Amino acid sequence: MILREFFDYYFRAVDPEVLAMYQNLMPGVRDLAGSYEELFSRNDDEAIAFLLDFYRLNSDLRNQNPEQAIIFNVHNNVCFPFFVEYLWKVMKPEDRQKLKEKAGADDLAEITKRLNDDVNLRNWVRKEIGCNLSQQDLFTLNEIIALQNFSSGGESSFLKYVYPDIQKLSGRVLDAGCGAGFATLVMSQYASVFSIDACKARLERAMALSNMMKKGEKNVFPRVMELIEEELGGIDVECEFPSADDLLAGTSKEVTFVEGSIDDLPYPDNYFDAINCLDVLEHTYNPEAIVEQFARVLKPGGRVFITAPTRYGEVEQHIHESIEGTLYPAMLHMHHFDPQSLTEMFERHGFKTVEITPFDFMSWDEFMDIANRSPERELAEELKSKPFDQVALQLFAVFEKI
Ligand SMILES: C[S@@+](CC[C@H](N)C(=O)[O-])C[C@H]1O[C@@H](n2cnc3c(N)ncnc32)[C@H](O)[C@@H]1O
Repeated sequence: MILREFFDYYFRAVDPEVLAMYQNLMPGVRDLAGSYEELFSRNDDEAIAFLLDFYRLNSDLRNQNPEQAIIFNVHNNVCFPFFVEYLWKVMKPEDRQKLKEKAGADDLAEITKRLNDDVNLRNWVRKEIGCNLSQQDLFTLNEIIALQNFSSGGESSFLKYVYPDIQKLSGRVLDAGCGAGFATLVMSQYASVFSIDACKARLERAMALSNMMKKGEKNVFPRVMELIEEELGGIDVECEFPSADDLLAGTSKEVTFVEGSIDDLPYPDNYFDAINCLDVLEHTYNPEAIVEQFARVLKPGGRVFITAPTRYGEVEQHIHESIEGTLYPAMLHMHHFDPQSLTEMFERHGFKTVEITPFDFMSWDEFMDIANRSPERELAEELKSKPFDQVALQLFAVFEKI
């Protein structure tokens, strides 16, 4: 539903030459928005071929004409009014009243214009309203975020941290928050994989790739990997991508997909041998409830592989948010962790820590350079008092159920 609304809006709002590019991907259709929505809810080879062209087009637009590309949460971009209107619809009536007063306008079009022009107003909205979204609002927005990239973000971390031990995976593995299903695909050659995600569009993509893998139709995978690698270009995980032929040489065991939330897992107790959960906990409403579920469904001795942003990752995001004045917390991160808080959370639910590895480093000077540009002076001053050589923005961790 939200995809239909989005494409209806987007195709009306973009410049005619950009609209023509999207029409060219689907020549001759009458209901362009409806046809796009339909392709995002399919899991066949044709849908994957279309998606590869769609994401290639969005990636080119992002480089050449960013104001017209599908980009989440950035003012001066054609999608910005859509996100303001979404927030307007879901916010509490009393918050709507406060926003009208703060913006000095009653009309949504005028408020949108003022938000676009005023970084302080956008920062106020993020802190007062955008940071208090419900779980359902997060899930809905995620369907739109999934339009930005084919990648769901955790592919390099998977290759760097989980893949080296992949031969040890066996039995049943849960891919919790599987996203576009890259890890599912690779792990399915070694274990039966159960994949769950709340984002329908990503799940369909994961299913389509998995079906192709099962049928031995692997010609598409080099293109998939090339696109993912390019989209992740900015992420500093220092990881070489193996070739698709090497990575996906085997045949797929059983893969089962479920659309749902990982804080209420539809699997029996003591069912899984391992859980892969990369770049997910920070997006969730209640990480504690999720770890409790992991403890329930994992066999004793089973391991959970996690990646999550650190407090410095949070601070870095927070600084970028305040410089840009985003309406929603960057990439909808609701939580961040440090080695201690992550360990304590898992230990509270009967896990022991096997490994905690910080990664995605930034030099202190680089970090302070961003902090110094932030309108939030107190934060920059506080950081200056405790310098480090380097700052790790993310953590990889392995926990074992006792
Ligand atoms: C950044 S992506 C990472 C996806 C994948 N693990 C990867 O490594 O690429 C986060 C994913 O978590 C999913 N997600 C967030 N909260 C969730 C929840 N409560 N239950 C299920 N999936 C969730 C999102 O839909 C999204 O696909």
